[in-house]
Amino acid sequence: MSGVNDLLASRQVIVCCGSGGVGKTTVAAALALSAARLGRRAVVITIDPARRLADALGRRGELSNEPTLVERIGTGEMWAAMLDVSTTFDELIGRFAATSEQADVIRSNVFYKSISGSLSGTRDYMAAEMLLRLHEDPRFDLVVLDTAPSRNALDFIESPERLVRFLRHPLFRILTAPSRGGLRVIGATIQPVLKIIGRVVGSNVMSDVIDFLRAFEGMEAGFAERASLVSRLLRANDTAFAVVIAPSPEPLNDTRLLVERLFATRISPSIVFANRLTPPFDAPSTTSEDSVQAWLDDNVRSLHQRANRERDLVKSFVDRMSPSPTGTVDLVEIGEQSSDIHDLEGITRLADTLSG
Ligand SMILES: Nc1ncnc2c1ncn2[C@@H]1O[C@H](COP(=O)(O)OP(=O)(O)OP(=O)(O)O)[C@@H](O)[C@H]1O
Ligand SMILES: [Mg+2]
Repeated sequence: MSGVNDLLASRQVIVCCGSGGVGKTTVAAALALSAARLGRRAVVITIDPARRLADALGRRGELSNEPTLVERIGTGEMWAAMLDVSTTFDELIGRFAATSEQADVIRSNVFYKSISGSLSGTRDYMAAEMLLRLHEDPRFDLVVLDTAPSRNALDFIESPERLVRFLRHPLFRILTAPSRGGLRVIGATIQPVLKIIGRVVGSNVMSDVIDFLRAFEGMEAGFAERASLVSRLLRANDTAFAVVIAPSPEPLNDTRLLVERLFATRISPSIVFANRLTPPFDAPSTTSEDSVQAWLDDNVRSLHQRANRERDLVKSFVDRMSPSPTGTVDLVEIGEQSSDIHDLEGITRLADTLSG
């Protein structure tokens, strides 16, 4: 069995990570479909706010937290879902609140409303929660997770531990402790911290934050338990990390950093998808003159297609810029050089192409 099929047949979770725009969403969707072909019931979940998964599957506006069946192939199934941060958070509150009154108090709190859908920290944590939830869902054998670009992917992996650290932080305990007349004194110390939080979430009402943390009382244990379950799931043997790369130096450097940070958190990626490579133009299968000619024609055609596609992209970009506020926009084409440019000689070669 090939590396990919082996992975698709044996794992329960595959996390696709990599830098921006390399094809994580596309590869994640393709992996879920391939797993379905192998007879598995696979769900692909995207935390990508750009909604590319829905576009890629031709289901714009149709994907939500609740997985949708995309394709049934024999006994295999491909499902897709898109993380909705506020809904996931609301459901978690409902799950861990001691009473429905407590859940209502939290959900209607101004501070909660501002953090539940917008802060990147909550997005990361809710993605982790969603991963866990789909993993526990008996409808699926495999969860393929499409992450946001590289640095965020790490934030996502570290988010459960960050949450636990926060919940165990003395500040949190002080704030949530039942008032024993000490709050006024402590208030003076924490006031600046709350002001900063207030500024970040756009709520200047300090009491909203305190009310929120108070209302949260008793729920830390539930949240901390989920967080440690996710943390374990990410490092489990049934979980694989796939790194998606594209052949250009800058994103590759970013990805190298990402991989080093993964290693540092005891996670070793087991597969790399090198996406968007130029076709290999393998040697022709026979040496007869006709077939060599056909082979050359094919290759030239495919090179032309690439060249045209690139220029179409550039043209539509420039067309959308015009008319610029100061008049027309000139377009200058610069060819990809055969090697990196890192000295005066390289700059000279490039300058030569600029002046035609
Ligand atoms: N092998 C490929 N050939 C042609 N186009 C591709 C290929 N892989 C991806 N694309 C296209 O490249 C674009 C970016 O892909 P995709 O959205 O999957 O990247 P991403 O890594 O998820 O991006 P982001 O970091 O923004 O989430 C999409 O328009 C997609 O259709
Ligand atoms: Mg994406």
